Amino acid sequence: MKTLTITAPLLCCSFALSLATAGDVQHPAKYADNEAFARISSPSLYLNPHIAHIDEINLDVYGDYKAFTEAFGLQLLPDINPDPHVVEINLEAREDYVDMIPGVPSKVYTYNGTVPGPLIHGTVGDTLIVHFTNNLPEPTTIHWHGLRLPADMDGSSVAQNPIQPGESFTYKFELKEASLFWYHPHVRSSEQVEKGLAGALLVSGKKKSVNDFIRKTKQKILVLDDVLLDKHGRVEEFFAGTPTEVLLKKINGRSGNTLLVNGRELPTLRVKSGVPVRWRMVNIANARFMRVVVPGHELTRIGGDGGLLETPIHDGDDVFLVPGQRADIMFVPKGKPGSELIVYWKDTARGRHSIDIMDDGVVVMGDDEMDGNYPDIPLMRLVFEKSHKPARELKLPEHLRTIEPIDTAGAAETTLNFGHSMPMADGTIKFLINGKTFNEVTSDDAPDAQVGETQIWNLVNMTGGDHPFHLHGFFFQVLETIYKDEDGNVLEIVPAPQLENVDMVNLPARIGPPGATSMTKIAIDFSPAEGLTGADIEAHGGMAVIENADLDMGKRGRSGGWQFHCHILEHADTGMMSFVEVFQ
Ligand code: C2O
Ligand code: CU
Repeated sequence: MKTLTITAPLLCCSFALSLATAGDVQHPAKYADNEAFARISSPSLYLNPHIAHIDEINLDVYGDYKAFTEAFGLQLLPDINPDPHVVEINLEAREDYVDMIPGVPSKVYTYNGTVPGPLIHGTVGDTLIVHFTNNLPEPTTIHWHGLRLPADMDGSSVAQNPIQPGESFTYKFELKEASLFWYHPHVRSSEQVEKGLAGALLVSGKKKSVNDFIRKTKQKILVLDDVLLDKHGRVEEFFAGTPTEVLLKKINGRSGNTLLVNGRELPTLRVKSGVPVRWRMVNIANARFMRVVVPGHELTRIGGDGGLLETPIHDGDDVFLVPGQRADIMFVPKGKPGSELIVYWKDTARGRHSIDIMDDGVVVMGDDEMDGNYPDIPLMRLVFEKSHKPARELKLPEHLRTIEPIDTAGAAETTLNFGHSMPMADGTIKFLINGKTFNEVTSDDAPDAQVGETQIWNLVNMTGGDHPFHLHGFFFQVLETIYKDEDGNVLEIVPAPQLENVDMVNLPARIGPPGATSMTKIAIDFSPAEGLTGADIEAHGGMAVIENADLDMGKRGRSGGWQFHCHILEHADTGMMSFVEVFQ
């Protein structure tokens, strides 16, 4: 490990640190004005009182310079392994205090003291080794969202016994594909993720595989989140409130009242006018759909969950991410030096509901009239700087990569119905796949697949709200969405917008009264990633349940298969989750 001799910007930041730790905690956004500070700061560094000063900065803590510029306030971890093809890190989940509202410490769950957790960065072909210790007061696991890996490394509730407080577990797997992924617990996720347990995992492509223009453009990782804080700055208790409030949180998901980019409210990002930028975004919010608007700018989407698209897409001035989803966008910021631009969140209609509990205990579920029209919320402040070079345009090739369409000839079809039970006056409601909550699903009703098989899944949304569907361990391709009325007549067929490998797809609300449906068809290739075997991805023994929808911990076993669920975490934890067993 080498130690960095302190250069001016770093000194300047340690000065800022001592100010911050003297109790005079300032708004994080103010620090972000200083680009150098923004790069190495993390919530724990400037807000954690026990890190009083940093006299020497260990360069390895910040990885290579490139990762350093990408991090934008995210913590970077020292790679403790000298082998350039191995990324080996220590990760600890623990309770800690982080200022979500400036000056008001919130007791949260952290990975290594920060929210979100550290940015993990590797290259395709690298082995990632994570020595994980659970110092939370409750069991947890780490799920590697979007990665193709051996089943017993997936950290899901059918793949791994939860890691008990004080216990450790080493995750070890090879990074197979280039994209932005993320990691989070798979135990009581709606609470553990909300409390702060989530981080970004960036896997870069090998040099030659990425177009030069894209590779040389400065990129920033943007972890988008919201958190629901009470007036004391505490993360609001899980499903707290009156039965009406509880039902609303279960049905619409827990929407936060504080929006965060890389753990900070309204951070400032300095951009050079006329110099292209690349933003890698992930939505880690429990339930908030993120439509991010950069007013007056033309955004080009070049990638999503599964890495680059085949062709860049011109997306207008906004980019849309459901919970769990990633987007890779490029654009040329343009603005007068010194001027500011607010990047803001814009609402999306997603079938939110209203709830009325009558005196006689009858629960009436209606439409939330604000759905799609909630006011805009500022997310991030861009400050334009003068560039000394002439302004440039995006010079993107028409063809970014080749994506093979999954061959669906002769593919078996499986139909999965997404629904919910009647809401009850005591605040209970169950979210269901094929009529069952997750704790009711056994190996008998879990779908099966053979290693190497291709299947078509018909994901039927019977409800009046959207459900962002996620499958573990495999990419899939979206074929089309078919809307039907309550008599089964086809209303509309919407083809997939483009060929793309994804691990998330939004199942849109039905159009019309109960009985109407939307059905999204996806193609899944159940082959192991290159270098993995059938044995790595198969289910060992078809373990049954697993994680109780009422948040009790059930018994479970190793590698029972691969989970799929709605990524509105309140839906997943109240039952909208199941698993597929893959056999050799
Ligand atoms: Cu992002 Cu099953 O999870
Ligand atoms: Cu859902």
